[in-house]
Amino acid sequence: MPVNQQILLDNRPEGEAVESNFRLVSTETPALAEGQVLVRHHYLSLDPYMRGRMNDSKSYAQPQPLGEVMIGGTVGEVVESRHPKFAVGDKVVGMGGWQEYSVVDGDAPGMLRKVDTTHVPLSHYLGAVGMPGVTAWYGLVKIIASKAGETVVVSAATGAVGSAFAALAKARGCRVVGIAGGPEKCRYATEELGFDACIDYREHPDTKTMAKALKDACPQGIDGYFENVGGYILDAVLLRTNAFARIALCGMIAGYDGTPLPMANPALILINRIRIEGFIVSEHMEVWPEALQELGRLVGTGKLRPRESIAEGIASAPSAFLGLLKGKNFGKQLVKLI
Ligand SMILES: NC(=O)c1ccc[n+]([C@@H]2O[C@H](COP(=O)([O-])OP(=O)(O)OC[C@H]3O[C@@H](n4cnc5c(N)ncnc54)[C@H](OP(=O)(O)O)[C@@H]3O)[C@@H](O)[C@H]2O)c1
Repeated sequence: MPVNQQILLDNRPEGEAVESNFRLVSTETPALAEGQVLVRHHYLSLDPYMRGRMNDSKSYAQPQPLGEVMIGGTVGEVVESRHPKFAVGDKVVGMGGWQEYSVVDGDAPGMLRKVDTTHVPLSHYLGAVGMPGVTAWYGLVKIIASKAGETVVVSAATGAVGSAFAALAKARGCRVVGIAGGPEKCRYATEELGFDACIDYREHPDTKTMAKALKDACPQGIDGYFENVGGYILDAVLLRTNAFARIALCGMIAGYDGTPLPMANPALILINRIRIEGFIVSEHMEVWPEALQELGRLVGTGKLRPRESIAEGIASAPSAFLGLLKGKNFGKQLVKLI
């Protein structure tokens, strides 16, 4: 059986996560038992939620146990099978973790799914046609419930979730405005992703200037906001919302290292009768088939052309992950393992 390189969570961060929180080890892959499948991972997905799992604090999910392989989505290929539903060569998506191979129980619900790579490249099943894409779909369709002609705004606009959000919102006839870090990301947002406008938050580092930029980019006000970041960006959006606006609270990455993100003026929620709803996409499995079908169609027809940031080799995962938390990624952050 092949040797498997794995990244474990070695110790928990105090404040900012650092590379020494992780440890690289090599192990023998165990022989397969009846019903098991050996998957060789082609790509590992790096996602912001992993930062929360590194903490030992109350959250919507259990903390990542110390000394175990870091949790993570993977796509790959079946290289050995003792399960009748999986054959050698099948392309699969699963939760294989930060390692090169995984042994999976083929009957465990939701652990391994075969995917078709005829029209959608394998890696996109971790991004636009995977969990991040469904996240964008859920927030837009089920919480913001946008109507044609409305203005919707998304932060972390060029990332895995934000880029899918743009394609989905454009398909529904919305004016779509992004907020992203830096001129290159903003140019990409308008030229490639179909955003009607994009605001570089680094040029607008406080609530007042951000609110002015939003006023210019959203002359009809904001009907829906997809929140990925938190902090003063949310304060500025609240100042520009229309009555009965809806906010899908998806992420607050600016605070993932433990920085508190107080709201400056929550009274605006009342004044504008805003509905704010937090959600966790894995708690809404019922929408995944419908969402994945639409996302697959958008990718297959070239209406959504997601960009990827690809780190090479399992050993690069910790630094690529820390980069993601600082906006060094440009599009979906992956680690290529083969
Ligand atoms: N609720 C759910 O079920 C769910 C599921 C998936 C993802 N999420 C959330 O969705 C958000 C986006 O996830 P993603 O996978 O698409 O990641 P991503 O956007 O591909 O990457 C994260 C991006 O966040 C931005 N960022 C990082 N630190 C920031 C800061 N301090 N201020 C402003 N922006 C910052 C950076 O973009 P810029 O350079 O543009 O700032 C960075 O590229 C995250 O908050 C994540 O936790 C939630």
